[in-house]
Amino acid sequence: MHLDVDLELCTGHGRCYALEPDIFEPFDDDGRARISDSVEASDPDLRDRLVSVERACPEQALIWRDNPQRGTE
Ligand code: F3S
Repeated sequence: MHLDVDLELCTGHGRCYALEPDIFEPFDDDGRARISDSVEASDPDLRDRLVSVERACPEQALIWRDNPQRGTE
């Protein structure tokens, strides 16, 4: 499972890259996020952290997918 940013929903709140700056980064003038590297959440500690980030997003723009689909709009 991979966590992905749904760019249709992301409005640039920035909580994801505030919480996990090594994983998420802003990429446009609106502050929308992308995932810096492909994140395979097989590590339980990392998965717990990503779930916390997912829950912190007010737009519910962080989506778990079977396959990464970065950069889709
Ligand atoms: Fe976007 Fe949510 Fe992060 S709105 S910038 S994915 S906290």
